[in-house]
Amino acid sequence: MKLLHSTVPISSDVARAVELLRAGRLVAFPTETVYGLGADATNASAVSKIFAVKGRPPDHPLIVHIPRAEDLSFWAIDVPPAALVLARPFWPGPLTLILRRHSSVPNVVTGSLDTVGIRVPDHPVALSLLEQFKGGIAAPSANRFGRVSPTEAAHVADEFGDLLDFILDGGRCRVGIESTIVDLSTGDPIILRPGGITREILEEALNVSVPIRRDDSVRSPGQHPTHYAPRARIIMVQSTEVIVQVERLLDSGCRVAVMSEYPIEALPPCVIRIPLSGTLPEMAHQLYARLRLADAMNVDVVVTVPPPISGLGLAIDDRLRRASGPRISDIRTGQGQ
Ligand code: TXA
Ligand code: MG
Repeated sequence: MKLLHSTVPISSDVARAVELLRAGRLVAFPTETVYGLGADATNASAVSKIFAVKGRPPDHPLIVHIPRAEDLSFWAIDVPPAALVLARPFWPGPLTLILRRHSSVPNVVTGSLDTVGIRVPDHPVALSLLEQFKGGIAAPSANRFGRVSPTEAAHVADEFGDLLDFILDGGRCRVGIESTIVDLSTGDPIILRPGGITREILEEALNVSVPIRRDDSVRSPGQHPTHYAPRARIIMVQSTEVIVQVERLLDSGCRVAVMSEYPIEALPPCVIRIPLSGTLPEMAHQLYARLRLADAMNVDVVVTVPPPISGLGLAIDDRLRRASGPRISDIRTGQGQ
């Protein structure tokens, strides 16, 4: 057993994690997207601990992770054919389906909605945990509410310290941004959150166009203005505007980083360069660790050039946009709107 933090054991001991879940305790575990903070999905008091530890409002529903699509009928009713069309090729994988919920799902999991989000994660540790637990694990990303999702076990330990009972270490998450959420509960499929499975791939599988819902209701995940935010502010600009923006920020006394796939010429030497790889999957894989790095380097503002909005670029752009939105503290004090 490795110790990442004096009080937080990191272990691949799935059997111990299963024991803790059965006892109503919380376990952080790796998935291919980001780390999750899990509880037994049928145990309402265990699930309510997730909200307490994360500081998450109770009306934000959780995703139930299951070991295989065959278990869907325990969690959902009226499962439409489109769900199976998507589950077959993309589960295990970074896709969450919103379906009408079965009465066995506790209200605390769904925020009392009549729907439930379900996915089969594509990570050997997560799958072995689910297989051995023989049930559903309700889990949001293992970060404090509104913050950047963790893509390494060390990030989870940094977020929660000794508040967590157990962290299963499965290394770095392969995809690096959260699952795509597709609502199939109202008839036509709608993307509620772009993610690891692209819109183009979904449309090809379903043979219909799949719109993206853009509204500000709680049901639209991650719509809260502080979602996915590091402590540093994020400013998105075109590559031709980087220098002007950087100079303005330096003049106002900020510690500035530029996060870009392009080498920006003529950046003043005091500016921190945070490189991002050129391919979209690599960019997604690195994104959250890079934002955490900016915080670790005490950067005030990260100036970044968003990727093209196709394929995985849509999800990366979405996360950067949300990270650049106004912060809870600004909203409470009436600033930053
Ligand atoms: O990749 C992922 O999806 C990760 C890993 C751990 O599986 N999980 C994750 O969970 O990102 P979370 O809680 O951070 O984001 C899930 C989003 C929430 O914003 C929530 O609003 C939405 O899913 N959601 C869950 N159930 C829903 C439902 N019934 N209707 C609409 N949205 C739902
Ligand atoms: Mg989250």
